[in-house]
Parts: sequence; C-alpha cells; structure tokens
Amino acid sequence: MNYTITTPLYYVNDKAHLGSTYTTIASDAFARYQRLEGNNVTFITGVDEHGQKIQRTAYGLGISPRDHCDMISQQYKQLWDKWGISNDRFVRTTSNQHKELVHVFFNRVNNSGDIYLGQQQGWYCVGCEEYKETDPGIKDPFCSLHKNNLEWRDEVNLFFKLSKFQKEIEILIDTPGFIQPTSRKNEICNFVSQGLKDFSISRIDVPWGIPVPGYQGHTFYVWFDALVGYLSALVGDKCISELEELHDLGWPASVHIIGKDILRFHAVYWPAMLISAGLKLPKRVFGHGFLTREGQKMGKSLGNVLDPNQLLDEFGTDAIRWYLLKDIQFGNDGDFQNKRFHDLVNNDLANTIGNLLNRTISMSRKWFSDKVPPFSPIEKMSNSLELCALKKISLFRKSIDQLEFHIASQAILDLAINANGYLNEKAPWKLMKDINNLEVVANDLYSVLETCRIIGLLLNPILPELSNRILVQLSCEDDLNSWSDNLNWGMLISGKNLPIPTPVIHKIESY
Ligand code: MSP
Repeated sequence: MNYTITTPLYYVNDKAHLGSTYTTIASDAFARYQRLEGNNVTFITGVDEHGQKIQRTAYGLGISPRDHCDMISQQYKQLWDKWGISNDRFVRTTSNQHKELVHVFFNRVNNSGDIYLGQQQGWYCVGCEEYKETDPGIKDPFCSLHKNNLEWRDEVNLFFKLSKFQKEIEILIDTPGFIQPTSRKNEICNFVSQGLKDFSISRIDVPWGIPVPGYQGHTFYVWFDALVGYLSALVGDKCISELEELHDLGWPASVHIIGKDILRFHAVYWPAMLISAGLKLPKRVFGHGFLTREGQKMGKSLGNVLDPNQLLDEFGTDAIRWYLLKDIQFGNDGDFQNKRFHDLVNNDLANTIGNLLNRTISMSRKWFSDKVPPFSPIEKMSNSLELCALKKISLFRKSIDQLEFHIASQAILDLAINANGYLNEKAPWKLMKDINNLEVVANDLYSVLETCRIIGLLLNPILPELSNRILVQLSCEDDLNSWSDNLNWGMLISGKNLPIPTPVIHKIESY
C-alpha cells in the first residue's frame, strides 16, 4: 500500500530548533514503522523559503534571500542526515519544479472560478505569516505567539473563495479520524462553525515570492505556495501534464504530521484548495503539542532554546528520541527536563533493556558454549514471556498506528521489565548449582533472549540505532528484512553463536 507521510515544510528564517526536530523525529518513527509493516512509504520533509518573514531576516543579516535560503536549507538537510532521518524527499519551495507546479495549481483553482481580486484590510503577523482576528477596540494589537506588534495592511490582493467550501469542510472535519488527536478537533469545528471567510492568496510588496501569472507585482501568499510543496515533493523532477497524475505518485497524503499552531491551514484551507483543484484530500492530519523547557516555552528571547546539534553530539540519537517519544504524549504539550531526561535514559535504556541483554547473553555464553541455548517445545505452550510478548506486540502495533508513541514505547519497556522479573524469579545462577537443572535453565535463558530479540525488533522504528545494536548482539540483524513474520515467538535459532556482549547503550553520567 502507498503510504505518504509529511512533516511541515520548515521556515528557513532560522536554523532548526528542538521543536522542528521533534516533529521530524516523530514522523521518522512513523515512516520507519509503516515501512516495516510492508507499506510503500514516501516520507516527505523540506523547507518553506518564501515570504516576508524570510525576506526580512535575510535583509536584516545583510545577505540576499537566495543566499540565506541556500545556507539554512543546507543546514536542515545536514541536520536530518546527522539524526539519521529516513526521509525519501526533501522539497525546497525555491526550486523551479515547485514554482511551475504552483502555477499549474493556481490555474486549476482559477479555472474553477475560485479566485477574485479584492481589497485586503487587516492586522498581519509577519512571524505567523497570517492575518489575525482582532478586537476592534484595541489600538496596538499584538501577537501572543511571537510577542510582536501586528502590522496594518490595506492592499489589493487575489482572494480564494474559501467560503464556497463551507459544507464540504464541515463534512470533512467531522469524518472520524481526519483530525487527530480528537481533542484538537473541537477547536477546528468551532472555527469552521463561525463561517469560513475567503482569504487572500497574493501579496504586493513581497518580491521574495513566486510571481502570480497575469498579475504584475503580485507574489503568492507564502502558505498558498508552501502547501503545494507537498505535491512538488511527490512530482520531484518528473514532468507531469495533468495534476491527476499525482494520484499515481503517492497523493493523497496518508497523514500530515504538524504542530497544533498550523492545524487550521492543514485541516481547512488546504483541503478547500485541493477540492477546488480537483485533487483528493489527505486522509488524516495530526496536530502535536509544543515542547517547553523546564516549564517555559522555548524561545530565542528567553535564551532557553535547545540546539538539536549540540544535544545530538552530547547524548546521541537514542537518548533524545526515547525521551521525546516515550515521555511526551504526542498530541499534548511536553516539557524537556534535564533530570528526568537523565533518569529515563539511564533507567529504561541502560538498566532495564541494556543490562537485561548483557547479563542474559553472558549467562548463555557461560553455560551453553557461547551459543543460544536449546529450547524444549514442552515449555512452549505455557511460557509467560511468550504470552506477554504477544500482548505487547499487539499493543505496540495498535498504538503506534495511532501515533501514540508513548504507549508503544511503554509496551516495549514493559516487556523488558517483565523479562527482568522473570529472570530474577527463575534465578538461573542458583539453579545452575545443580547440573540436573540444565534443561530448565536453557529454556529460561532462551525465553529471555527471545524477548530481547522481540524488543530489538519493536524498538526499530523508535530507536533504530539501539535496535540494530541489540539485534547484532543476538546475531539477528537480518530479522529486520521480514519484520512482521519475525515478530512470531520462537524465531531465535538455538545453537546460533552469541558474540561477547558489549554495552548497547551507556549511562549518561552527569547533568
Ligand atoms: N512553514 C510553516 C509550515 C508550512 S507547511 C506547508 C511553518 N513553519 S515553522 O518552521 O514555523 O514551524 C514548523 C513546525 O514546527 C510547526 O508544526 C510548529 O508547530 C513546530 N514547532 C515550532 N515550535 C515548536 C515547539 N516549541 N515545539 C514543538 N513544535 C514546534 O509553520
């Protein structure tokens, strides 16, 4: 099955921070999971390069917008490489292919009779790149998100007839599963129920944008331009003569994964644009929460922005991915706390998972000639670890499919906690004092090693690096090739060599 997953296309006004890295990591985990389940995944990310915000930033730095965009886009690309993000596409909205597609898309919408010229008056936030609804009584309206004054605009713009799509959008947003998590659905329903208003899709005096054909001096509004970027990513450098060909290239998106602040654009404006252009609609839109740091919103003015590059150098991908995916409920806001981060990595990954693997391999090597112990089939029916694995595998799949990464990660951890308990209860080191217990010990150790193999497989989308190290220690790295089949209990081959174990993850020492 084709499965298209997108992150937002990030503004290049500044380098990436942990907020954008968070969305990308979550999308990466989801894309990896869908690939393991056998889907034909196209995982799209990229950058949103036009508009007044970027134009101003570049001029403020004394460089051309083009040079500025080239530099920051490159930094994004390098960052995702460094994090091992498995994106299939990286789209830039300054590419020629994208510009051409925006023109084709606009012509479609125009031919549908959904574009007209009108007067745009209102208060604009350049940070949000959005007109804001304000109280008529307020003299100096302010953007609470960007903490800056709104700017008054009064100009002739092209408008898109969003109001025409009121009924279609009402039906769409009411479709179960379209907006997730469901807690976010209400705010969109409220917004739509107040009546959709047409919105302006061109700007004058913003030369850093894609020119609108037939309207001299107008460039496309950055959101009209950027949303079409999801389509450009699928087209790549192919030549398409009709937009409908996109339906063979992976459109519609299976899910747009975005932050809660841009849900309206994805769940309302974008679908209306697509209906007007005669294209299919995305199947779901997931709006996640914001990351804060020690209780405060991360922001440059507060000086508490976490630099993903630095974090990665210091702690590695596994630690950060685990914290972000396991500790924060995707959909809710989440707080990055140093102490909690250290505790979680040390307890969950180093102690519960890492030590379990290490000590079980050591015992197996010691008593079974460096090999995976034999496993007697009589044990098979009643093995409590097998039952636990079955339950947790099913929970893992169900929850990760709903982007409930915290539940999926906890399911893996519970498997490891259960296996540690099993090992402590069976105490093979005591049983081995009597050689007659060899068969029982073999079965016990096999069961724990088999649980470790399943933990290694389940961890793959969440922590691909740690997963690989676990599977290599068990000589099972090929199991990833047929992930789903290999989740069956008992696939670990007795008699296989077990290499000398080394710690799969190190503790973080100080904070
Ligand atoms: N360019 C638009 C998206 C266009 S998509 C066609 C944009 N870019 S952005 O760079 O400002 O934001 C990208 C994403 O980062 C948004 O989903 C936003 O919610 C997310 N985040 C920005 N700050 C964040 C946190 N502090 N925490 C989590 N995510 C945050 O909007």
